[in-house]
Amino acid sequence: ILEAFASFFVGVQIFATFVVSKWLKMDFLLSFVNHNVNRQNRQNCKNMNINNKKRILFVCLGNICRSPMAEEIFRQKVFKRGLGEEFVIDSAGTYSGHAGELADPRMREAAHCRGYCLTHRSRPFRASDFEDFDRIVVMDDSNYERVTRLAPTREDIDKIYRMRDYFTTYADRYDYVPDPYYEGREGFYLVIEMLEEACEKLLDEMA
Ligand code: 4NP
Repeated sequence: ILEAFASFFVGVQIFATFVVSKWLKMDFLLSFVNHNVNRQNRQNCKNMNINNKKRILFVCLGNICRSPMAEEIFRQKVFKRGLGEEFVIDSAGTYSGHAGELADPRMREAAHCRGYCLTHRSRPFRASDFEDFDRIVVMDDSNYERVTRLAPTREDIDKIYRMRDYFTTYADRYDYVPDPYYEGREGFYLVIEMLEEACEKLLDEMA
């Protein structure tokens, strides 16, 4: 009962902060809300004994193009195989400048055209993600370096994988998932195709 009361109280606090920050247009308060929601989610997950689940985190730079797309593609594949109960899936960025934002509108539009709906809100990668996830999949070498620098232990570094490890037809042309942020629309569709292919192999390995 005490736990339920505490969760309810935190929920009310978060909601009140959200309303006030929207009203005052104070984005930093929104990041605070996001941080607390994530902390509460982590706590709830621990209470639900998520240790039985496979926990995967996708990471890119801004967490508004590649990694939220990877998260959603992987989620759809997991659900299509009827494995929804077995996985915890999330994404994060090594750069916090877009924290709290939905995915880039160009990424959302391309996703929509391919049958996906991106609802994730950007959040920064943090050292505690090594505790909360079994596998961290990065999009390029720069992501790999930044995530590695935050790893508390050698074992944690072993949790970091590159998406290119799961390329098949793209393997001879790319050794990273190209950042579409500064590119034209076609770059976003290329990212989706690469991620669809790679996530299939990744799920084969994890399922
Ligand atoms: P992402 O793309 O890492 O795939 O989310 C980017 C998003 C934002 C920026 C760079 C890349 N940025 O410089 O703000």
